[in-house]
This record gives sequence, structure tokens and C-alpha cells, in this order.
Amino acid sequence: MNAPAIATRGLTKRFPGGQVAVDGVDLAVPGGSVYGFLGPNGSGKTTTIRMLLGLITPTAGTSTLFGDPARAALTRVGALVEGPAFYPWLSGTANLLRLDAANPAADAATARRRTAEALDRVGLTAAAGKRYKAYSLGMRQRLAIAGTLLSRRDLLVLDEPTNGLDPQGTREVRALIKDVAADGTTVFVSSHLLAEVEQMCTHIGVMRTGRLVAQSSLGDLRSAATARVEVDTPDVTAAARVLTDLGLRDVTRAAGRAGAEIGTTAPEHVSDLLFRAGVSIRGFQVVRPSLEDVFVGLTGEGFDVDS
Ligand SMILES: Nc1ncnc2c1ncn2[C@@H]1O[C@H](COP(=O)(O)OP(=O)(O)O)[C@@H](O)[C@H]1O
Ligand SMILES: [Mg+2]
Repeated sequence: MNAPAIATRGLTKRFPGGQVAVDGVDLAVPGGSVYGFLGPNGSGKTTTIRMLLGLITPTAGTSTLFGDPARAALTRVGALVEGPAFYPWLSGTANLLRLDAANPAADAATARRRTAEALDRVGLTAAAGKRYKAYSLGMRQRLAIAGTLLSRRDLLVLDEPTNGLDPQGTREVRALIKDVAADGTTVFVSSHLLAEVEQMCTHIGVMRTGRLVAQSSLGDLRSAATARVEVDTPDVTAAARVLTDLGLRDVTRAAGRAGAEIGTTAPEHVSDLLFRAGVSIRGFQVVRPSLEDVFVGLTGEGFDVDS
């Protein structure tokens, strides 16, 4: 699988009325990745996903799935955009059978087995005969994901699959996504919650007002979060000189505090040299910025803590 699962060039959507919802987005989603598509509400995630799936036409730009136009690749793709409509009075099994029957490529003779397998996959076997209306939100979302798993997929596109779920439901969906990914399916999942994406994704793209402002593997982002040594001292100048003489980068001086990137230098070596230089130390710490801090640096804004 050499072609990226998703690739877009200059993908743009301007809605009638003039608003640009998605503005020149270049996505690169490697095959086999779990790609977190992160951004605050209204930043253009759903609009982008609708274009990826060929549900709406871009104003400009191109997009491909596994190197092909969306239409040619759709049988390899399962998608969940704003949850499918399930019948409240039907059981999970009956709902999936209806969904399966709507797929002309699916063999009717094996429909029962497919739905049973999909329900098993999402942990709903015990609740398979229960009516949909008795399902919790987490169960409903899992049923929706089961619907996307009725046939074998190479790519799963999930638009905010944990929206509105309680912590238990969120954990269930997250575990399910990891599970699906472990089988080799590429997962493209949108979210407005950084912490959530951090827990299950290998790659992250960040949207802000229609633009993709950052795109990276989680590993690269983590290493961008360079650790710093911070020294609280009345002797800021002397402390900064020690850090500079050590060859540390990005030495900073503030009221009562000197700091620098610590790199591979051992913290005890730094404190030892400060002591020997006669710098009085009130506080000494090595801090690594959170992924959130890195993002704030990249995008100029934080993310909703919850909602
Ligand atoms: N059908 C539409 N017509 C006009 N504006 C729309 C339409 N769909 C979305 N928008 C606008 O486009 C922007 C991006 O929306 P959306 O893609 O839903 O963001 P997100 O999924 O990140 O919350 C928003 O400002 C939204 O109001
Ligand atoms: Mg959305």
C-alpha cells in the first residue's frame, strides 16, 4: 500500500454566501496510521470529511483515497458522519441487517453472519436483540461503527465519534478504534479534544478556521516538545552565564529566573555547575511542555477542555 490513504491538494470549500469553510487544505494520511483530525468547533473538519467522501463537491482542489478519486475507492472506505439514522424500535441486529441489505455488493446469504461478526467486534453481542432506543449513547455509537464494519474496510473515516459520550462510552469507542487499527485499517478520526487524539492517534492534523495549520506524526510532535531547565535565583545573570557556557540553547532571562533547553545534558550536571559558580538556587526544575503547549505554539490557540 504505497499511495497514502488520503491525500488532498488545495482542498477548498466556499459555501454560497461567501464563507470559506475549508481553505487550501493539503492532507497526507499515511496508510496504516490512526490520524487525528483536530480542531475547534466550526474549523472545517466535517466539511473536509464530506469532501473526502465525495458527499459534497470542493470549490477547488483535489482529493484522493489510496491514489484514486473518492468515487473509485468508496467500497474500501467505511464512514461515520453525523451518525446514521437507526430505527429506535428495532434491535441492533435488525438495524444492521437493514443497513447491510442497502449495500448492493453484499451477499444476502451471509448477511446474518456479517451482522453477528460486526456486533461482536464492537462488543454488542449481548445487546444484539435489545431495541435501539434502549441503547446507551456509547452503545449507539458502537452500533454505528459496527455499521461501518459490515464489510472489510481499508479506511475508516469517523467524524467526532465520541461526541456526546460519557467517559465510559468514550473509552469504549477509543478502544474499538485501536482495535480496528491493529487489524491494519487506516483510521481518520476527527475530534475537538486534544487529549483524546493524543491517546489513540499516530498522526495529527490541526485545523483552525478552515486551514490545516499543523500536520505531523505524534513522535515528531513529542520531540518538538523540548525539555527546558528553569532556575529560580536572585543571580539571574550569573545563572544564565553558566547555562550559556554549558552550550545550552535558547537561554532566557526573566525576573528571578534563568532557563535554557536542556538537550542531552544531565540535570545534576547543570545544578552542580550552578552551585560551583556560586549561584544561589531557590528552585530548579526540568520541564517538558505538554502536547497542548506545543499546539498552542503552533496554532496560537488552545482547545476546548470539554463540550
Ligand atoms: N452547508 C453549509 N452552508 C454554509 N455554511 C456551512 C455549511 N456547513 C458548514 N458551514 C460553515 O462552515 C464552517 C465549518 O463548519 P464544519 O465543517 O461543520 O466545522 P467543524 O466540523 O470543524 O465543527 C462553519 O463556520 C460552518 O458554519
Ligand atoms: Mg463537525
